[in-house]
Amino acid sequence: MAGTIEGSGAMGDYTNMSSYYDVIMTSGYYNYAQIVDDLEQHGPFAHILEVGCGTGLILEEFGRRNGSARITGIDLTEAMLKQARARLETFSAIDLRQQNVCSLHLGKSFDAAFSYGGVWYFVIDGDQEPFMVSHIPGDSDNRMGLEKLAQHIAPGGMFLLGIQGPHFDYEKPISNGMTYAQKIEPHADGFIKHYYLLDQGQRVMEQTINYRTYSWDETVSLLAALGFTPVPRSGDKFLAFRKAA
Ligand SMILES: C[S@@+](CC[C@H](N)C(=O)[O-])C[C@H]1O[C@@H](n2cnc3c(N)ncnc32)[C@H](O)[C@@H]1O
Repeated sequence: MAGTIEGSGAMGDYTNMSSYYDVIMTSGYYNYAQIVDDLEQHGPFAHILEVGCGTGLILEEFGRRNGSARITGIDLTEAMLKQARARLETFSAIDLRQQNVCSLHLGKSFDAAFSYGGVWYFVIDGDQEPFMVSHIPGDSDNRMGLEKLAQHIAPGGMFLLGIQGPHFDYEKPISNGMTYAQKIEPHADGFIKHYYLLDQGQRVMEQTINYRTYSWDETVSLLAALGFTPVPRSGDKFLAFRKAA
């Protein structure tokens, strides 16, 4: 597909995938214990925000290990948050809010915010420089979202973005016997990703997301304008930026 997608498409809505999200992700797509191991290496964090917390799989693991931390999760998709609320109902220190990061307003600040596969993340393809992937298709919306997020990170605080491998077309069986498939269509500003779930050849789920991408230099410049500088890499699940004190 040629041309730009400025302002087009839903802003990363996961309603279609929501009822199958956990079984897809826990069939090898993400390793939540390793994600939290790496997150903790950047801490300790007393007050932490997850941007795009989905069904709460990371927050469950983080909350179990860090009982005294105050934790907030935000997500755009109500069908994802509904599952997070059920999963995390016994965690009194976890506050979940339905919000679009582009208009984020929590009335408090955090010593760290992170996004793993959430609104923003990095892809590293071999020896190439990391590039940032965003669930938000429009450039001005990305700038607004990053600005809102920066306003919620305390001076000296950290912004951590998850690292993923390159995206490609594939299909594979998952633990409930169904087949997960994805198809990538590159375009001028990023790529469109189609997610499918097949049950005995019948398509039971289809979701499409318009992703925008930013080169490493563009990302560093966007974040520098908000007072953040990169922190030397120390693990394989997150790249971190620190806000000026
Ligand atoms: C791939 S899921 C990641 C969920 C979770 N971090 C995990 O690791 O399982 C991406 C999540 O980002 C949320 N999201 C996408 N765009 C968003 C936005 N603009 N504001 C808030 N959440 C957003 C989606 O609703 C979805 O739940």
